[in-house]
Amino acid sequence: MIVEKTKYSRLKNIDFNNLKFGEVFTDHMFVCDYEDGNWIDPRIVAYNKIEIEPSANVFHYGQAVFEGMKAYKDDSEKIWLFRPTENYKRISISSQRLAMPELGENIFLSALNELLLLDCDWVKPGIGNSVYIRPFIFGSEHCIAAAPSKKYKFMIILSPVQSYYSGSIKVLVAEKYSRAASGGVGYAKAAGNYGSQFYPTSLAQKEGYDQIIWTDSKNHKFLEEAGTMNIFVRIEDTLITAPTTDTILDGITRKSIIKIAEDKGINVEVRPISIDEVIEAHSKGRLKEIFGSGTAVLVSEISSFGYKEKKFDLNYIENSYASTFKSILTKIQYNLSPDPYGWRSEVGTIKV
Ligand code: COI
Repeated sequence: MIVEKTKYSRLKNIDFNNLKFGEVFTDHMFVCDYEDGNWIDPRIVAYNKIEIEPSANVFHYGQAVFEGMKAYKDDSEKIWLFRPTENYKRISISSQRLAMPELGENIFLSALNELLLLDCDWVKPGIGNSVYIRPFIFGSEHCIAAAPSKKYKFMIILSPVQSYYSGSIKVLVAEKYSRAASGGVGYAKAAGNYGSQFYPTSLAQKEGYDQIIWTDSKNHKFLEEAGTMNIFVRIEDTLITAPTTDTILDGITRKSIIKIAEDKGINVEVRPISIDEVIEAHSKGRLKEIFGSGTAVLVSEISSFGYKEKKFDLNYIENSYASTFKSILTKIQYNLSPDPYGWRSEVGTIKV
C-alpha cells in the first residue's frame, strides 16, 4: 500500500470539545480503485477533494454502500475497533445486493489498520470521544447507461466525534411513508436507504419529533427500525426486537445487545412486534423502555413516541436495560473491562 503523508496536519486547529457529528475529517483518507475486475492501487493520501465526472454512475443510479464503525482510545493510548470483521461481512452483503464487486477482507482490514495508525492522534481518549469511521464504495464509471458500473472506488474517511444525540429522543411511528419493502434493499447499508428517510423525517421534525420509527411497508403495523437505528422494546422484563428480515439492517450493536442480554439471563424475544402490542403494554403500565441501537449512537433511549395523533410518554427508570447495555458495551469498546466475547481488536495488531 502506498502511503503519502500530508505535510500540513490540521490537527492543531481542531476544537475537540466542540465537534459536530460528521463535520471534521482527519488528515488522511484511504482510496482504492476497481477496474477490469480487480481492486487496484490501494493508497493512503491527504484528505482532499476527488475528481469525478458528472456522468459517474453514483450520481445517476446510486450504486453506493457504506459502513459505520468507531475507533476508541484507552488511557494507555491503544486504539480499539469493535467487531470490524462484522462490518466487512456486511459491506460485502450490501455490495452484492447493489450489484457491486466484493472487496477482499484483507483490503478492508489492512486499510483500517494503516489509516488509523497514521491518524492515531485524532482519536482522543475518554468515554464519548471516538473517531467515526466511514468506509464506502461507489460506482465511478463515467457512463449513464442504466447498468452496473464497471469501475468503483472504495474509500475510508475518518471523523473525530463526540456523542450523536445529547439525550433521549422522541420518535413518530410511520403511518404513511416506508423505509424499505420486502424484496428491496432495506437490509443493505445502501446510501439511498438513508437519503429516502430525510423527507419523511423532516416532516416528523416539524411536529417536534427527532426520528421516525419505521413500520412494515404493507400495513404499517410492525416496528422495523428507529431512524438510522435498530429498535428494542422492553415489556415488563422481556426485551423484544424485530428479526432481521430483508427490510431490516443486521445491526452489529443490535446483535451484541442480544448476546449480552441473553448472557445476563434477560428473556429476549426476536420476533415481529406490532405498534398495537406496544400501545396496549403502555396502557397497562407494562411498557418499560424503548431504545434504539447503532454504531453512531450506541444506545439511544426513547422518551416518547407518537402514533395516530397521540403522544405516549415513557417514564424514566433507574438502571434501565438501555443504560446497562450502554455501560457494558462502552467498557468493552474503551478497554475498561474484560472482553469475554472477543469483540475488541487492537489497531496495529489486527490480523489480515
Ligand atoms: C451508524 O450508526 O453507523 C449509522 O449508520 C448512522 C449514520 C447514518 C450516522
